[in-house]
Amino acid sequence: MQFQWYPGHMTKAKRAMQEDLKLIDVIIELVDSRIPFSSKNPDIDQMANGKSRIILMNKYDLADPERTKQWMEYYQKNGYFVTKVNSKSGAGVRAVQNVIQEACKEKIERDRRRGILNRPVRAMIVGIPNVGKSTFINSFAKKACTKTGNKPGVTKGKQWIRLNKNVELLDTPGILWPKFEDQSVGLRLAFIGSIKDELFHIYELSILLLEYLNENYPGAVSDFYQTEKSDEPAEQLSRIAVRRGCMKSGGEYDLDKAAKYLVDDFRAGKLGNISLEIPTGEANV
Ligand code: G4P
Repeated sequence: MQFQWYPGHMTKAKRAMQEDLKLIDVIIELVDSRIPFSSKNPDIDQMANGKSRIILMNKYDLADPERTKQWMEYYQKNGYFVTKVNSKSGAGVRAVQNVIQEACKEKIERDRRRGILNRPVRAMIVGIPNVGKSTFINSFAKKACTKTGNKPGVTKGKQWIRLNKNVELLDTPGILWPKFEDQSVGLRLAFIGSIKDELFHIYELSILLLEYLNENYPGAVSDFYQTEKSDEPAEQLSRIAVRRGCMKSGGEYDLDKAAKYLVDDFRAGKLGNISLEIPTGEANV
């Protein structure tokens, strides 16, 4: 399946983010736990310029726990501080404060040696659209938030959320774009709903999703829809259509409608905890 998609103002936004990065001590990057490779933008590695890096495995409630564990180990081995969060429920969010302190230990020590005491660590949240940045910021800030407003010495117009005496957060998250040149990355982003649905054909997408599920999570589809087991995606889709009563006016089954049910149910986690990538650096969808 080919995607035709190009984000506008990418260079401009990247430049703006580079400016913001000068103001902060630690970069907190949110990734989607179902696709921790495809939802991570490699540009940030170049822009980070030696700053501490934290990866938050967001939406872990939707992902396969075993794979999430593997990914956390993988990123830890690659020099990141890593923790998992469910920004929607708030699970794991409070612990992020400790991870920030851990990631900024050297900076805090350096400050202390210079006689600078209690200077809060400044952090910025980055991530691809829809990964959960706003939800995370709200959840994180709710724990202890008072807006400090524009502070002297800080670029005009920037707002900082003072979480507590230890941490300040730039309140506008940095938006990154995924690596769209890679078609398999695009496909996985489409599976989780990070690409506009108009850009692909829902029937084709659902067939590819079924192929992946049959190979990696056999039984997940038939268990959820209570249909007879099958390994044949087109047949599975027809069975979903029957089960859900997806009919066209002429009495024919509406397979596009069944496909939409499948993809939506997958995205909402109804088919179970499912991950689409394993930490080999290789695409596996
Ligand atoms: P963004 O700022 O990065 O663009 O993402 P945003 O916070 O708007 O979140 C995108 C969607 O992801 C929202 O769903 C949000 O509720 C959901 N979300 C964020 N974090 C988590 C998580 O850890 N687990 C789960 N399951 N979902 C999460 P939505 O359907 O667009 O809105 P809503 O109906 O949930 O309000």
